[in-house]
Amino acid sequence: STLSFVLGTRPEIIKLSPVIRSCQRYDVPFSLIHTGQHYSDELDSVFFEQLELPPPEYNLAVGSSSHGEQTGEMIVGIESVLEEERPDVVLVQGDTNSVLAGTIAATKMKGIEVGHVEAGLRSFDREMPEEVNRRLADHAADHLFPPTETSRQQLLSEGLADDRITVTGNTIVDAVTQNVEIAHERSSVLAELGLESEFGLLTAHRAENVDDRERFVTLLDGVARAAREQDLLVVYPIHPRADKWVSEFGIDVPAEIRLVEPQDFLDFLVLEDEATIVFTDSGGVQEESCILQTPCVTLRDNTERPETVEVGANRIVGVESESVVEGVREILGVGPNWENPFGDGTAAKQILDALEYDQA
Ligand code: UD1
Ligand code: UDP
Repeated sequence: STLSFVLGTRPEIIKLSPVIRSCQRYDVPFSLIHTGQHYSDELDSVFFEQLELPPPEYNLAVGSSSHGEQTGEMIVGIESVLEEERPDVVLVQGDTNSVLAGTIAATKMKGIEVGHVEAGLRSFDREMPEEVNRRLADHAADHLFPPTETSRQQLLSEGLADDRITVTGNTIVDAVTQNVEIAHERSSVLAELGLESEFGLLTAHRAENVDDRERFVTLLDGVARAAREQDLLVVYPIHPRADKWVSEFGIDVPAEIRLVEPQDFLDFLVLEDEATIVFTDSGGVQEESCILQTPCVTLRDNTERPETVEVGANRIVGVESESVVEGVREILGVGPNWENPFGDGTAAKQILDALEYDQA
Protein backbone atom coordinates (compact mmCIF):
# COMPACT_ATOMS: atom_id res chain seq x y z
CA SER A 1 0.00 0.00 0.00
CA THR A 2 1.49 3.33 -1.08
CA LEU A 3 1.26 6.95 -0.09
CA SER A 4 1.68 10.17 -2.05
CA PHE A 5 2.27 13.54 -0.41
CA VAL A 6 1.06 16.64 -2.20
CA LEU A 7 2.88 19.70 -0.93
CA GLY A 8 3.79 23.11 -2.26
CA THR A 9 4.69 25.75 0.33
CA ARG A 10 7.15 26.38 3.16
CA PRO A 11 4.84 25.38 6.03
CA GLU A 12 3.76 22.17 4.28
CA ILE A 13 7.36 21.09 3.72
CA ILE A 14 8.20 21.75 7.38
CA LYS A 15 5.06 20.17 8.85
CA LEU A 16 5.07 17.11 6.60
CA SER A 17 8.79 16.49 7.15
CA PRO A 18 8.24 14.33 10.28
CA VAL A 19 5.64 12.23 8.42
CA ILE A 20 7.93 11.75 5.42
CA ARG A 21 10.78 10.77 7.71
CA SER A 22 8.52 8.30 9.54
CA CYS A 23 7.66 6.70 6.19
CA GLN A 24 11.36 6.22 5.60
CA ARG A 25 11.76 4.70 9.06
CA TYR A 26 8.85 2.25 8.68
CA ASP A 27 9.62 1.42 5.04
CA VAL A 28 6.32 2.79 3.82
CA PRO A 29 6.58 3.31 0.05
CA PHE A 30 5.82 6.95 -0.78
CA SER A 31 6.23 9.63 -3.41
CA LEU A 32 6.40 13.42 -3.18
CA ILE A 33 4.37 15.60 -5.54
CA HIS A 34 5.49 19.23 -5.29
CA THR A 35 3.04 21.69 -6.84
CA GLY A 36 5.67 24.41 -7.17
CA GLN A 37 3.45 26.98 -5.43
CA HIS A 38 6.63 28.05 -3.64
CA TYR A 39 9.74 27.97 -5.82
CA SER A 40 12.21 30.54 -4.45
CA ASP A 41 15.09 28.63 -2.78
CA GLU A 42 14.50 30.42 0.52
CA LEU A 43 10.87 29.17 0.67
CA ASP A 44 11.49 25.76 -0.84
CA SER A 45 14.74 23.88 -1.50
CA VAL A 46 16.44 25.15 1.66
CA PHE A 47 13.93 23.14 3.71
CA PHE A 48 14.35 19.94 1.69
CA GLU A 49 18.09 20.15 2.27
CA GLN A 50 18.01 21.12 5.92
CA LEU A 51 15.31 18.61 6.89
CA GLU A 52 17.08 15.93 4.84
CA LEU A 53 14.06 15.14 2.68
CA PRO A 54 14.39 13.32 -0.63
CA PRO A 55 13.89 15.52 -3.69
CA PRO A 56 10.30 15.36 -4.97
CA GLU A 57 9.68 12.83 -7.77
CA TYR A 58 7.38 15.38 -9.41
CA ASN A 59 7.45 19.16 -9.50
CA LEU A 60 4.52 20.76 -11.30
CA ALA A 61 6.17 24.20 -11.23
CA VAL A 62 2.86 26.08 -11.23
CA GLY A 63 4.40 29.21 -9.68
CA SER A 64 2.46 32.33 -8.71
CA SER A 65 -0.81 33.48 -10.29
CA SER A 66 -4.44 34.17 -9.38
CA HIS A 67 -6.21 31.70 -7.12
CA GLY A 68 -8.21 30.10 -9.92
CA GLU A 69 -5.36 29.81 -12.36
CA GLN A 70 -2.90 28.51 -9.76
CA THR A 71 -5.33 26.00 -8.23
CA GLY A 72 -6.66 24.88 -11.61
CA GLU A 73 -3.21 24.23 -13.02
CA MET A 74 -2.35 22.22 -9.93
CA ILE A 75 -5.47 20.06 -10.20
CA VAL A 76 -4.70 19.17 -13.80
CA GLY A 77 -1.07 18.38 -13.01
CA ILE A 78 -1.78 16.39 -9.84
CA GLU A 79 -4.46 14.33 -11.58
CA SER A 80 -2.10 13.20 -14.29
CA VAL A 81 0.63 12.30 -11.78
CA LEU A 82 -1.88 10.32 -9.70
CA GLU A 83 -3.02 8.43 -12.82
CA GLU A 84 0.54 7.25 -13.14
CA GLU A 85 1.37 6.73 -9.45
CA ARG A 86 -1.93 5.19 -8.32
CA PRO A 87 -1.26 5.59 -4.58
CA ASP A 88 -3.75 4.23 -2.04
CA VAL A 89 -3.67 7.41 0.01
CA VAL A 90 -2.83 11.05 -0.73
CA LEU A 91 -1.80 13.15 2.25
CA VAL A 92 -2.16 16.94 2.31
CA GLN A 93 -1.36 19.30 5.19
CA GLY A 94 -2.89 22.63 6.17
CA ASP A 95 -4.85 25.22 4.21
CA THR A 96 -3.04 26.43 1.11
CA ASN A 97 -4.14 26.32 -2.51
CA SER A 98 -1.88 23.26 -2.91
CA VAL A 99 -3.99 21.47 -0.28
CA LEU A 100 -7.23 22.34 -2.02
CA ALA A 101 -5.88 21.19 -5.38
CA GLY A 102 -4.46 17.93 -4.02
CA THR A 103 -7.72 17.18 -2.27
CA ILE A 104 -9.94 17.90 -5.27
CA ALA A 105 -7.77 15.94 -7.70
CA ALA A 106 -7.44 12.87 -5.47
CA THR A 107 -10.93 12.66 -4.03
CA LYS A 108 -12.52 12.05 -7.43
CA MET A 109 -10.20 9.23 -8.39
CA LYS A 110 -11.33 5.67 -7.73
CA GLY A 111 -9.25 3.74 -5.24
CA ILE A 112 -7.47 6.79 -3.81
CA GLU A 113 -8.26 8.07 -0.32
CA VAL A 114 -7.37 11.52 0.98
CA GLY A 115 -5.94 12.24 4.43
CA HIS A 116 -5.98 15.83 5.75
CA VAL A 117 -3.28 16.60 8.29
CA GLU A 118 -4.13 19.56 10.57
CA ALA A 119 -7.86 19.19 10.00
CA GLY A 120 -10.58 21.07 11.87
CA LEU A 121 -8.93 24.48 12.28
CA ARG A 122 -11.33 27.40 11.85
CA SER A 123 -10.85 31.16 11.98
CA PHE A 124 -14.55 31.63 11.13
CA ASP A 125 -13.38 34.35 8.73
CA ARG A 126 -14.57 33.37 5.28
CA GLU A 127 -12.74 36.30 3.69
CA MET A 128 -9.48 34.39 4.18
CA PRO A 129 -8.55 32.10 1.28
CA GLU A 130 -7.08 29.68 3.85
CA GLU A 131 -10.46 29.32 5.63
CA VAL A 132 -12.17 28.33 2.40
CA ASN A 133 -9.39 25.87 1.56
CA ARG A 134 -9.40 24.14 4.94
CA ARG A 135 -13.19 23.80 5.07
CA LEU A 136 -13.37 22.29 1.60
CA ALA A 137 -10.46 19.94 2.27
CA ASP A 138 -12.00 18.70 5.53
CA HIS A 139 -15.33 17.97 3.90
CA ALA A 140 -13.80 16.08 0.98
CA ALA A 141 -11.20 14.05 2.91
CA ASP A 142 -11.58 10.42 3.99
CA HIS A 143 -9.19 10.65 6.95
CA LEU A 144 -9.06 13.68 9.21
CA PHE A 145 -6.14 14.36 11.55
CA PRO A 146 -7.06 17.27 13.82
CA PRO A 147 -4.27 18.36 16.17
CA THR A 148 -6.45 18.86 19.26
CA GLU A 149 -9.76 17.89 20.82
CA THR A 150 -11.04 21.42 20.00
CA SER A 151 -10.46 20.85 16.29
CA ARG A 152 -12.03 17.38 16.51
CA GLN A 153 -15.17 18.86 18.07
CA GLN A 154 -15.33 21.40 15.26
CA LEU A 155 -15.32 18.63 12.66
CA LEU A 156 -18.04 16.72 14.52
CA SER A 157 -20.15 19.88 14.78
CA GLU A 158 -20.02 20.15 10.98
CA GLY A 159 -21.44 16.65 10.66
CA LEU A 160 -18.22 14.84 9.78
CA ALA A 161 -18.15 11.19 10.85
CA ASP A 162 -16.29 10.32 14.03
CA ASP A 163 -14.79 7.19 12.49
CA ARG A 164 -12.86 9.30 9.99
CA ILE A 165 -11.28 11.40 12.72
CA THR A 166 -8.08 10.76 14.72
CA VAL A 167 -6.66 13.40 17.07
CA THR A 168 -2.88 13.20 16.61
CA GLY A 169 -1.40 16.42 17.93
CA ASN A 170 0.29 18.73 15.44
CA THR A 171 3.30 17.50 13.45
CA ILE A 172 4.93 20.88 14.13
CA VAL A 173 5.69 19.60 17.65
CA ASP A 174 7.54 16.66 16.08
CA ALA A 175 9.44 19.06 13.79
CA VAL A 176 10.35 21.47 16.60
CA THR A 177 11.45 18.81 19.07
CA GLN A 178 13.49 16.99 16.42
CA ASN A 179 15.29 20.17 15.37
CA VAL A 180 15.58 22.67 18.20
CA GLU A 181 18.71 21.23 19.80
CA ILE A 182 20.43 20.83 16.46
CA ALA A 183 19.45 24.41 15.72
CA HIS A 184 21.16 25.73 18.84
CA GLU A 185 24.26 23.66 18.07
CA ARG A 186 24.60 24.61 14.43
CA SER A 187 23.08 28.04 13.98
CA SER A 188 25.08 31.24 14.29
CA VAL A 189 22.15 33.46 13.34
CA LEU A 190 22.31 35.63 16.47
CA ALA A 191 25.92 36.59 15.78
CA GLU A 192 25.30 36.97 12.05
CA LEU A 193 22.44 39.37 12.63
CA GLY A 194 24.31 41.12 15.45
CA LEU A 195 21.57 40.37 17.99
CA GLU A 196 23.48 40.81 21.22
CA SER A 197 20.72 42.20 23.41
CA GLU A 198 17.01 41.50 23.69
CA PHE A 199 15.08 41.49 20.46
CA GLY A 200 11.63 40.90 19.05
CA LEU A 201 10.81 38.73 16.03
CA LEU A 202 8.22 39.74 13.43
CA THR A 203 6.66 37.79 10.58
CA ALA A 204 3.79 39.19 8.49
CA HIS A 205 2.71 37.86 5.12
CA ARG A 206 -1.07 37.31 5.18
CA ALA A 207 -2.83 38.72 2.13
CA GLU A 208 -5.26 40.70 4.30
CA ASN A 209 -2.38 42.43 6.11
CA VAL A 210 0.23 43.13 3.45
CA ASP A 211 -1.73 43.57 0.21
CA ASP A 212 -3.46 46.65 1.68
CA ARG A 213 -1.11 49.64 2.02
CA GLU A 214 -2.89 51.30 4.90
CA ARG A 215 -3.22 48.15 6.94
CA PHE A 216 0.41 47.16 6.34
CA VAL A 217 1.68 50.61 7.38
CA THR A 218 -0.54 50.53 10.49
CA LEU A 219 0.78 47.08 11.41
CA LEU A 220 4.44 48.15 11.09
CA ASP A 221 3.74 51.29 13.10
CA GLY A 222 2.11 49.26 15.90
CA VAL A 223 5.07 46.88 16.09
CA ALA A 224 7.53 49.81 16.06
CA ARG A 225 5.74 51.54 18.94
CA ALA A 226 5.68 48.39 21.03
CA ALA A 227 9.37 47.87 20.26
CA ARG A 228 10.18 51.43 21.38
CA GLU A 229 8.28 51.02 24.62
CA GLN A 230 10.01 47.70 25.38
CA ASP A 231 13.39 48.96 24.16
CA LEU A 232 13.75 46.16 21.62
CA LEU A 233 15.05 45.91 18.10
CA VAL A 234 12.68 43.85 15.96
CA VAL A 235 13.97 41.55 13.19
CA TYR A 236 11.60 40.84 10.34
CA PRO A 237 12.53 37.96 8.02
CA ILE A 238 10.34 39.18 5.22
CA HIS A 239 8.25 36.83 3.07
CA PRO A 240 8.57 37.62 -0.68
CA ARG A 241 4.90 38.54 -0.85
CA ALA A 242 5.33 41.24 1.81
CA ASP A 243 8.66 42.33 0.36
CA LYS A 244 7.01 42.90 -2.99
CA TRP A 245 4.41 45.20 -1.39
CA VAL A 246 6.98 47.14 0.66
CA SER A 247 8.63 48.06 -2.66
CA GLU A 248 5.48 48.60 -4.71
CA PHE A 249 3.79 50.74 -2.05
CA GLY A 250 7.07 52.55 -1.33
CA ILE A 251 6.68 51.92 2.41
CA ASP A 252 9.22 53.48 4.77
CA VAL A 253 9.82 50.73 7.29
CA PRO A 254 10.24 52.22 10.80
CA ALA A 255 13.81 52.23 12.17
CA GLU A 256 12.90 49.88 15.03
CA ILE A 257 12.23 47.11 12.50
CA ARG A 258 15.08 45.50 10.62
CA LEU A 259 14.21 43.64 7.44
CA VAL A 260 16.23 40.48 6.82
CA GLU A 261 15.96 37.65 4.29
CA PRO A 262 13.62 34.73 5.04
CA GLN A 263 15.53 32.40 7.35
CA ASP A 264 16.12 28.68 7.06
CA PHE A 265 14.31 26.50 9.62
CA LEU A 266 17.18 26.07 12.10
CA ASP A 267 18.03 29.77 12.16
CA PHE A 268 14.37 30.67 12.47
CA LEU A 269 13.89 28.27 15.39
CA VAL A 270 16.78 29.92 17.22
CA LEU A 271 15.28 33.35 16.59
CA GLU A 272 11.88 32.20 17.90
CA ASP A 273 13.42 30.53 20.93
CA GLU A 274 15.63 33.47 21.87
CA ALA A 275 13.22 36.33 21.10
CA THR A 276 11.68 38.28 23.98
CA ILE A 277 8.45 38.49 22.03
CA VAL A 278 7.07 37.28 18.71
CA PHE A 279 4.80 39.44 16.54
CA THR A 280 3.12 37.42 13.79
CA ASP A 281 0.23 36.77 11.46
CA SER A 282 1.50 33.28 10.62
CA GLY A 283 -0.27 30.12 11.71
CA GLY A 284 2.84 28.04 12.24
CA VAL A 285 4.65 30.80 14.11
CA GLN A 286 1.79 31.08 16.64
CA GLU A 287 2.21 27.37 17.32
CA GLU A 288 6.00 27.34 17.48
CA SER A 289 6.25 30.28 19.86
CA CYS A 290 3.74 28.51 22.10
CA ILE A 291 5.79 25.29 21.98
CA LEU A 292 9.03 27.20 22.68
CA GLN A 293 7.60 29.23 25.60
CA THR A 294 8.08 32.57 23.82
CA PRO A 295 5.21 35.06 24.31
CA CYS A 296 3.36 35.93 21.10
CA VAL A 297 1.01 38.65 19.87
CA THR A 298 -0.99 37.86 16.75
CA LEU A 299 -1.45 40.72 14.31
CA ARG A 300 -4.87 39.60 13.16
CA ASP A 301 -8.49 39.96 14.22
CA ASN A 302 -8.95 36.23 14.75
CA THR A 303 -7.06 32.96 14.98
CA GLU A 304 -7.67 29.36 13.99
CA ARG A 305 -5.30 28.42 16.84
CA PRO A 306 -7.43 29.38 19.89
CA GLU A 307 -5.55 26.80 22.00
CA THR A 308 -2.53 29.14 22.08
CA VAL A 309 -4.69 31.93 23.51
CA GLU A 310 -6.40 29.64 26.02
CA VAL A 311 -3.12 28.46 27.53
CA GLY A 312 -1.88 32.08 27.79
CA ALA A 313 0.83 31.95 25.13
CA ASN A 314 -0.77 34.26 22.59
CA ARG A 315 -2.92 37.41 22.38
CA ILE A 316 -4.97 38.41 19.38
CA VAL A 317 -4.25 42.13 19.02
CA GLY A 318 -5.15 43.12 15.44
CA VAL A 319 -2.92 45.78 13.87
CA GLU A 320 -3.89 49.05 15.59
CA SER A 321 -0.99 50.58 17.54
CA GLU A 322 -2.67 50.95 20.90
CA SER A 323 -3.87 47.40 20.87
CA VAL A 324 -0.47 46.02 19.82
CA VAL A 325 1.35 48.06 22.49
CA GLU A 326 -1.15 47.04 25.17
CA GLY A 327 -1.09 43.36 24.15
CA VAL A 328 2.71 43.27 24.36
CA ARG A 329 2.66 44.92 27.77
CA GLU A 330 0.12 42.42 29.06
CA ILE A 331 1.73 39.27 27.77
CA LEU A 332 5.21 40.31 28.92
CA GLY A 333 3.70 41.01 32.35
CA VAL A 334 3.02 37.32 32.95
CA GLY A 335 5.96 34.94 32.78
CA PRO A 336 5.93 32.24 30.10
CA ASN A 337 4.79 29.07 31.82
CA TRP A 338 2.10 27.30 29.91
CA GLU A 339 1.24 23.84 28.66
CA ASN A 340 1.83 22.96 25.02
CA PRO A 341 -1.65 22.09 23.70
CA PHE A 342 -0.43 20.51 20.44
CA GLY A 343 0.58 17.04 21.60
CA ASP A 344 3.73 15.18 22.52
CA GLY A 345 5.67 15.17 19.26
CA THR A 346 4.46 11.77 18.03
CA ALA A 347 1.87 13.08 15.56
CA ALA A 348 3.67 11.66 12.51
CA LYS A 349 3.70 8.15 13.96
CA GLN A 350 0.07 8.45 15.02
CA ILE A 351 -0.95 9.45 11.49
CA LEU A 352 0.79 6.44 9.97
CA ASP A 353 -0.69 4.20 12.68
CA ALA A 354 -4.20 5.48 11.93
CA LEU A 355 -3.64 4.67 8.26
CA GLU A 356 -2.52 1.21 9.44
CA TYR A 357 0.98 1.58 8.12
CA ASP A 358 2.49 0.47 11.43
CA GLN A 359 2.08 -3.15 10.34
CA ALA A 360 3.60 -2.45 6.93
C1 UD1 B 1 0.77 30.91 0.66
C2 UD1 B 1 -0.55 30.44 1.27
C3 UD1 B 1 -0.62 30.90 2.72
C4 UD1 B 1 0.59 30.43 3.49
C5 UD1 B 1 1.86 30.87 2.79
C6 UD1 B 1 3.05 30.26 3.50
C7 UD1 B 1 -2.50 30.27 -0.25
C8 UD1 B 1 -3.76 30.90 -0.67
N1 UD1 B 1 -1.69 31.01 0.56
O1 UD1 B 1 0.78 32.32 0.65
O2 UD1 B 1 -1.78 30.35 3.32
O3 UD1 B 1 0.55 31.00 4.78
O4 UD1 B 1 1.85 30.41 1.42
O5 UD1 B 1 4.22 30.97 3.31
O6 UD1 B 1 -2.23 29.15 -0.59
N2 UD1 B 1 6.49 34.44 -4.14
C9 UD1 B 1 7.83 34.39 -4.39
N3 UD1 B 1 8.47 33.18 -4.35
C10 UD1 B 1 7.82 32.04 -4.11
C11 UD1 B 1 6.45 32.08 -3.84
C12 UD1 B 1 5.80 33.30 -3.86
O7 UD1 B 1 8.46 35.41 -4.64
O8 UD1 B 1 8.47 30.99 -4.06
C13 UD1 B 1 5.79 35.76 -4.13
C14 UD1 B 1 5.19 36.11 -5.47
O9 UD1 B 1 5.26 37.50 -5.60
C15 UD1 B 1 3.74 35.69 -5.28
C16 UD1 B 1 3.49 35.99 -3.82
O10 UD1 B 1 4.73 35.70 -3.18
O11 UD1 B 1 2.86 36.39 -6.12
C17 UD1 B 1 2.38 35.17 -3.19
O12 UD1 B 1 2.58 33.76 -3.37
P1 UD1 B 1 1.38 32.72 -3.18
O13 UD1 B 1 1.87 31.34 -3.33
O14 UD1 B 1 0.22 33.14 -4.02
O15 UD1 B 1 0.90 32.92 -1.69
P2 UD1 B 1 1.70 33.14 -0.34
O16 UD1 B 1 1.53 34.57 0.07
O17 UD1 B 1 3.06 32.57 -0.44
N1 UDP C 1 9.74 29.95 8.86
C1 UDP C 1 11.08 29.82 8.50
N2 UDP C 1 11.77 30.95 8.18
C2 UDP C 1 11.23 32.19 8.20
C3 UDP C 1 9.86 32.31 8.58
C4 UDP C 1 9.14 31.17 8.89
O1 UDP C 1 11.62 28.71 8.49
O2 UDP C 1 11.90 33.16 7.90
C5 UDP C 1 8.98 28.73 9.18
C6 UDP C 1 8.41 28.69 10.58
O3 UDP C 1 9.32 28.08 11.45
C7 UDP C 1 7.13 27.89 10.42
C8 UDP C 1 6.72 28.12 8.99
O4 UDP C 1 7.84 28.69 8.33
O5 UDP C 1 7.37 26.51 10.61
C9 UDP C 1 5.54 29.06 8.92
O6 UDP C 1 5.27 29.34 7.59
P1 UDP C 1 4.49 30.63 7.11
O7 UDP C 1 4.48 31.66 8.16
O8 UDP C 1 5.05 30.98 5.78
O9 UDP C 1 3.02 30.05 6.83
P2 UDP C 1 1.74 29.78 7.75
O10 UDP C 1 2.15 28.94 8.91
O11 UDP C 1 1.17 31.09 8.14
O12 UDP C 1 0.84 29.08 6.82
